[in-house]
Parts: sequence; C-alpha cells; structure tokens
Amino acid sequence: MQIRQVSADERTDTMFPLQAYAFMPSPWSDAEREAYARRMVFYRTATSLVAEEDGQALAGVAAFPMRQNVRGVVQDMAGVASVAAHPSARRRGFVRELMIRLLRQTREQGCAVSALYPFRPSFYGRLGYVGVPRVRTASFAPEGLAHLLRAELPGEVERLRLAEGFDAYNDLTLRLLEKRHGFSVYDETRTAEFRESPPLWVAVARVDGEVVGAVTYRIAEYGGDLVAGDLLTTGPMGRALLLQFFARHVDQVARIEVKIGVDEVPELWGTDFAVLTEGRVDHPRRGAPMVRLLTMEALDGLPAGADTAVTVEVVDDDLLAGRYRITGAGGALKVEAVRGEPEATLTCAGISALAYGVLDPVEVITRGFGQMGASAVEALGALFPKSMPYLFADF
Ligand SMILES: CC(C)(COP(=O)(O)OP(=O)(O)OC[C@H]1O[C@@H](n2cnc3c(N)ncnc32)[C@H](O)[C@@H]1OP(=O)(O)O)[C@@H](O)C(=O)NCCC(=O)NCCS
Repeated sequence: MQIRQVSADERTDTMFPLQAYAFMPSPWSDAEREAYARRMVFYRTATSLVAEEDGQALAGVAAFPMRQNVRGVVQDMAGVASVAAHPSARRRGFVRELMIRLLRQTREQGCAVSALYPFRPSFYGRLGYVGVPRVRTASFAPEGLAHLLRAELPGEVERLRLAEGFDAYNDLTLRLLEKRHGFSVYDETRTAEFRESPPLWVAVARVDGEVVGAVTYRIAEYGGDLVAGDLLTTGPMGRALLLQFFARHVDQVARIEVKIGVDEVPELWGTDFAVLTEGRVDHPRRGAPMVRLLTMEALDGLPAGADTAVTVEVVDDDLLAGRYRITGAGGALKVEAVRGEPEATLTCAGISALAYGVLDPVEVITRGFGQMGASAVEALGALFPKSMPYLFADF
C-alpha cells in the first residue's frame, strides 16, 4: 500500500467512489458524480490523501484548513473529513495509517489542533482524540413564545435568502470565532460552497445596524415544522430578537426545531413554555465531535485558571510525547519541554480534554486518560477550569 496526496481535481476519480459508497444511497448516478466534480473547486485548499494498491485508491482521508477558538485563543485547525475505505480493503489498518500521516502533515502545515465527527469514537480515541459536546436541539410550538410578540425590543430582524444574507451571516460567524470557546470556521475557499448550498432562509437580527444574531432555517410545510440551524447570537438581545421572529410563525408552523449549545437553557426562554431539549448521540450517524491537540505549543498563551505549575509527561502519542512544565503566570499558560520528574502522566486525549475544558483531572483519571496524585489533580484542575466548548462547524 502506498499513500499519495491527491489534488482536488483527482478526488473525483479516487475518493468519490469510496465516499459515495460509504455515505450516499448507491449505486450512484453520473449526475451525482458530476455534481461532486463541480464541488471540488471548494476543496482546493484541503489536504487529501489516498491509500493505493496497484494504482487503485482503496481508502482516503482529508483535512480542511479551519480555525478554532480554544479558550479565547484562535488556533489553526485541521478539520478531518472524507474518511472512507473500500469494503474489501477494510480492517487492514489503511485508514489508521492515513490518519497518522494526515495529522503529521497538517501539523507541519501549522495546524495546532484538530477536530472531526467520528463514526466510532473509540477508533479516533486511539489516535488521541477526545469527545466534546454535540449540539443540542430545542423543539417547541411557537405559541410558547407568545410573550415575545408583545415585547418592544430595540432591534429588528430581516429575513433573506441565505445567498443574499450570506455576508452578514458569515461576518457573524467570524466575530463569534473570536469570542466563543470551541467555535470553528472553514477557510474562505470552503466557506464559499455554503453560499450556494441548498436553498435556506436566514433571519438576521440587528441592533443599531449591528448584527447581533442570525439563524438559517427552512419551512418543511404549512402547518408542519420550521427546521433551523444553529441559533447564533452575540448575547441575550440577539436571541430574544430571533425567538420573537420565530414566535411570529404561530398559526403557520406547528413546531420549531433549532440547534443550541450546551450552555443554553430553553426552559428559561418563557413562562408556560413547553420545550423538548435533546442531545442525541448515536453511531455512526450522530457522533459527538472529537478534538485533539497537534502541538503542546497550542497551550502557550491560553488563559490560565490560576498561578501555579505542574510537570506532566504526555505518553502514547508520536506528536506530543515528552515532558513539559505547564505554568500559569499572570493569567496565561506557558509550556516548556523539561527533563524533570513528572507529577502526572497524560495521554493525548487527557491533555486535550483538559485544554478544551471538557474533563477535570479526576475525570481524566477515571476515563483512563492519565495517572496522577492529589497535588497534580489540584494543580491541573486550577490551571484548566472546566469550560464547555461549542463547536459550530458541521463537517
Ligand atoms: C470506518 C472506515 C473508514 C474504517 O476503515 P479501515 O481501513 O477499515 O480502518 P482501519 O483498518 O484503519 O481500522 C478499522 C478497524 O480495523 C482494525 N484493524 C486494523 N488492521 C487490522 C488487521 N490487520 N486485522 C484486523 N483488524 C484490523 C482496527 O484496529 C480498527 O478496529 P478497532 O477500531 O476496533 O481497533 C471504513 O469502515 C468505512 O469506510 N466505513 C464507512 C464510512 C465511514 O464510516 N467513514 C468514517 C467517517 S468518520
């Protein structure tokens, strides 16, 4: 087996048959193949790798250049996607080999972190990834928001076709990238595809001309559902404006379904407000995303929860293995490679879970991602306070 990097144009002959067989109803039509070929203009900046035998591509993986906010600091991120193997070539370790090469290569390209949606989390767990929350959905009847119809809010909502409202929507995602832990966006090349994407509405909320919220949606049918994407807001006024807009669909749609982060508490959106908040995870279709660090330097400059220090050894990972002194000083973390005795042993999943704020040190131990004594539990817990990320981009 040989691994080869392919261009976006080569993907149609090499990766498309693998992906189409894995993810689409099949056999596929010529029209579907041509539609894929046309989309490849948006994949020019992706790193695409295939495993070949006798000139035939048997497995493929790819990484999109993305950016992600980790505790307030924006990092270059490798967004892994297009992972598929030919059924007759599965369970030979091809995808594992491809992933190892892809992670090394994207790190050389400057990526500090990586994220993906897993088909089976334990497979990527062995590659150093750890789970972060999946987006929740809130579903409710618009009647429940009736109180907002009477509220005088200091702003307005404009409804546009996504193609027309795309710049406002995209600008908001770029602002949220700077503000919101976990938030991630594609580069311009890939983002351009979503402007053309299936027809959607976008509701854009503004206060004094400034965009404070936006949500994409479609209406399935009269008397049916309004199905929305992520409720993106800069704060409570943006949310109130968008919910008020949804409330105006009373007598038109039966239910509204919208995606929210784990920090949203929809039962607090109204009195007498009946709502179902659901966080549904299953495999292979609805996995919660996973993340990992590609470099320990990614921790440098992140906000530190306390002024303290601890020496850790990262094990079982080619990219991160080593001993490091992690110091919190003046509110920021500093990481140096050292020789001293470690107070904690962590896997890549363990240090990634602490960096992203999804597990505390005791949970790192109980999940099998590290070993440490009480003083290291205290120091790492103080340096890396829990903080749930909201990973926006779906890929
Ligand atoms: C998921 C998928 C990509 C895996 O591809 P693959 O080439 O079989 O992957 P690998 O061989 O590297 O690993 C798969 C399993 O085979 C095992 N394996 C690897 N080499 C093996 C060998 N020589 N003998 C037996 N098992 C082996 C691996 O350990 C792994 O199992 P584990 O996770 O329980 O340890 C492939 O099944 C596929 O295309 N599925 C449909 C699409 C899909 O789900 N894509 C993933 C989207 S995130």
